[in-house]
Amino acid sequence: MVILPSGGVATGDAPAANGPPVLAIESSCDETSAAVLTGTRTVASVVVSSQVALHARFGGVVPELASRAHVMSITPVARQAMAEAGVGWSDLAGLAVTRGPGLVGSLLVGVSWARGAGMARNLPVIGVHHLAGHWRAPWLEVASGFDPPAWPCVALLVSGGHSALYHAEGPGAVRLLGRTLDDAAGEAWDKVSRLLGLGYPGGAAIDALAAGGQPGRWSLPTPLQGRPGMDLSFSGVKTAVLHAVARSPWREDPASMPPSERADLAAAFQAVMVGSLVERLDRAVAATGVGCVIVSGGVACNRALRSRLRAWGDARGVAVSIPPASLCTDNAAMIGAAGYARVFDAWRAGRGYSPEPLDVLAHWPLEEV
Ligand code: KG4
Ligand code: ZN
Repeated sequence: MVILPSGGVATGDAPAANGPPVLAIESSCDETSAAVLTGTRTVASVVVSSQVALHARFGGVVPELASRAHVMSITPVARQAMAEAGVGWSDLAGLAVTRGPGLVGSLLVGVSWARGAGMARNLPVIGVHHLAGHWRAPWLEVASGFDPPAWPCVALLVSGGHSALYHAEGPGAVRLLGRTLDDAAGEAWDKVSRLLGLGYPGGAAIDALAAGGQPGRWSLPTPLQGRPGMDLSFSGVKTAVLHAVARSPWREDPASMPPSERADLAAAFQAVMVGSLVERLDRAVAATGVGCVIVSGGVACNRALRSRLRAWGDARGVAVSIPPASLCTDNAAMIGAAGYARVFDAWRAGRGYSPEPLDVLAHWPLEEV
């Protein structure tokens, strides 16, 4: 028996492929996503409807607008995922849905929709921890011959809402090593992007701009330099960028900064962020002695971080597993990966829909599951 990071107990008998289809739903923030999995590692379809355009003009996610948009898109998104996978309701073994953490209104849309579908079709519905999904993403089969990560491992989960380092002996034994003391890493990327007039969401914009910049032309402090432990901190770097702009000739209108200056500042910021993430990960590997690390969450799309991690892994003799960018940002395939085993067990035991309430959880530390 293994206790999954998503909570609950699974027998561990679920197949990696060729099992009964499970419909997974993710709606914790600003992506409405549905996926069909036919095993713990096999994705038959994944559909993501992004609300980026809706929130961009507000410079961040507006929770009420997010909930309303989920209501509008969840049924077409789920239908499309089922059509692309070629499955109907009567083929499904059950549903896995993100229960938290996240925006309450957004989570409620996904959970209510999944419960309604489960009740109508007498299918089991299980709740999944969003971070357990990010954690599981690197195990999804993305190409034939793909090597999944090995246990024990260290996981660096970095997104717009979370940034933490975990150690896991196996699928159930997850221990928190350190977490951000202030902003999440993605939040820092987003805030600096806004400051530089690059809009929201900022990660990809800074990533693109920084590629053409010279990081050495602006001096920014390294977070938690010389401090022991594996916690993370990003608000100091963000504030240092703010001060650098405030001392510059473009303080009145940062958007008027010449493109090359802006690219250099973006590159300096990104270099400090990437350096800090890799340094903390290095400590975690030294402290635990693992031979494998996984890096997941939206920030793991960052090209500078990905290439730096690969070089670091080669130099350190550590296997580095990062999902493809489309599975790093929020998606339902990862939720299916984290929830498949429990749905499978319920299906095999002949359990249908359970009227037991499945509440959503805005705050839900992974290590408390
Ligand atoms: O995992 P995710 O889709 O949602 C959360 O669970 O938060 O992560 C979104 C975050 C945003 O802050 C976004 O700016 C960041 O991931 N992100 C990036 C990149 N692409 C997305 N950060 C840095 N570089 C990128 N290329
Ligand atoms: Zn996420």
